Amino acid sequence: MFYWYRVHRHRKLTQEQWDSKKPKRKGKGKGLDCSDACAIMMDDDGSDSSSTHANNLNHNTEPLPIELDLQVGKGRFAEVYKAKLRQPSSSSDQFETVAVKIFPEEEYASWKNEKDIFSDIDLRHDNVLHFLTAEERKMSKQYWLITAFHPRGNLHEYLTRNMVSWEDLRGLGGSLACGVAHLHSDHTACGQPKVPIVHRDLKSSNILVKQDLTCCLCDFGLGLRLDNTLTVDDLANSGQVRGNWC
Ligand SMILES: Nc1ncnc2c1ncn2[C@@H]1O[C@H](COP(=O)(O)OP(=O)(O)OP(=O)(O)O)[C@@H](O)[C@H]1O
Ligand SMILES: [Mg+2]
Repeated sequence: MFYWYRVHRHRKLTQEQWDSKKPKRKGKGKGLDCSDACAIMMDDDGSDSSSTHANNLNHNTEPLPIELDLQVGKGRFAEVYKAKLRQPSSSSDQFETVAVKIFPEEEYASWKNEKDIFSDIDLRHDNVLHFLTAEERKMSKQYWLITAFHPRGNLHEYLTRNMVSWEDLRGLGGSLACGVAHLHSDHTACGQPKVPIVHRDLKSSNILVKQDLTCCLCDFGLGLRLDNTLTVDDLANSGQVRGNWC
């Protein structure tokens, strides 16, 4: 990861030097780059999911019309399901496939922490799991996080079941380094200040493989925002970092 980070950074610096030498067109400086970098992200299947309550708690009294399909993962805190999000406007059977992470009542703190981290709009990046919304399902005493669904599953399973070429490995490693670099960074791709975030549970089962064989980071249950208000005591009391790498 460090190697890929260095390669990525070197390329970026070289590009910036080259850009700074290019004559600038009036009114089209950094702003254009920014809008390019901040363009709405598309799902793997190309559908634009930005319309769906991006980075918000679903404040509607009615929960979203979601039909759970099969369970695709089970961790210590929650269960993850592939699900169908029905399109409210269409009368037909149109739906968007999403992932739903369901926390039981006892794991409220973990849900809240992950929701708060995902709710930071600056977290959005191609190599960070695309968050849609969070819901409190009080009737069933459950807490939900609704995100993009990645059918290839986590990196651990993917590497166990598939042979990867050097080219694929480069794509997986490079994209992973980009995701971690964005997470840790104190500025966005547009150069705006951003709160650095530490994941604190980085392992192959918390990394998803996207359709184009790039990675995205998931499971921010133990994540921590390193904002200015954080005191040494907060840091010390912010939960234990698990030491099981696989
Ligand atoms: N968006 C998704 N698309 C496809 N699979 C997913 C998605 N999110 C999670 N999964 C699957 O579910 C598993 C568990 O998810 P996650 O790590 O978020 O739960 P957890 O309960 O916090 O896990 P743990 O605490 O054991 O790390 C992942 O390893 C992955 O296999
Ligand atoms: Mg996990």
